[in-house]
Amino acid sequence: LREYCEVEVNPREEPPSKSELISRLKDKHALLCLLTDKIDAEVMDAAPDLRVISTYSVGYDHIDIEESTKRGIYVTNTPGVLTDAVADFTWALILTIARRIAEADGYVRGGRWKIAWSPTLFLGYSVYGRTLGIIGLGRIGIAVAERARGFNMRIIYYDVQRPPLDVERRLNAEYKPLEELLRESDFITLHVPLTRETYHLIGERELRLMKKTAFLINTSRGSVVDTRALAKALKDGWIAGAALDVFEREPIEEDNPLLKLPNVVLTPHIASATVEARSKMAEIAALNIISVLKGEKPQYLVNLNVLNVKPLEKVKMI
Ligand code: GLV
Repeated sequence: LREYCEVEVNPREEPPSKSELISRLKDKHALLCLLTDKIDAEVMDAAPDLRVISTYSVGYDHIDIEESTKRGIYVTNTPGVLTDAVADFTWALILTIARRIAEADGYVRGGRWKIAWSPTLFLGYSVYGRTLGIIGLGRIGIAVAERARGFNMRIIYYDVQRPPLDVERRLNAEYKPLEELLRESDFITLHVPLTRETYHLIGERELRLMKKTAFLINTSRGSVVDTRALAKALKDGWIAGAALDVFEREPIEEDNPLLKLPNVVLTPHIASATVEARSKMAEIAALNIISVLKGEKPQYLVNLNVLNVKPLEKVKMI
């Protein structure tokens, strides 16, 4: 970016406060933000020169897309390059929760391993040959399904948009209405974006439909699941367990009931955190900005309609 622009970088690891963001953006043409930066109408109003908001993430629920399009601001993201990292991580969570790996690690480190071997020590659930329910069969959902082949799983999925038939055939994935998927799956994994429609998609009703032996995996956005209902489900045994990388509040609040439950695995929003994925995300986030400032269509434009609101034009660069 420094080859093309004057760059001001947030010097701290914490996200800037809203007022700081507003004061810093006053004279900027571009913003490279993280998913922790809430970019709403108020922030955009304070940045009259802003041409592009490039988020270093695939998700863009932290940006008000409608408001940015209205103002002719291009919004870009970094899809594709983190698909494999997130799908791998989803599988790590599936295996960790089913085979109680995190619990067992704590047991060994905590000095509680006193009997060498026992037939029932840390009995878990089999993954091989079970039914995997995928909610959201987009890029990441598909990559998760591809990895299920080695586990000989039956794959069912739910999505508001059906993929082309050849995708279903290739993955051997069968479409199911949401309720049926909830009733039939042994592992349910969420790969939907957070939108008005997917907010609390999994709540009390849905959790009660799941098998008592089923697990819920979430690497999408915390607010897709109603945390309170999930904590109740885990405590009262409506489901067997959950593995979560994302939360309604991040960092997780100290009194979140999930922290006290044994049948849940919690990680701090790191599903895409590989050197490879994060480096590529950084490169794409920068290239998206450079394209817009050069007056060229960026590779990953979220709000395609913006092209009609404010046509691309070159901005003077260094
Ligand atoms: C991470 O959650 C992302 O959206 O990239």
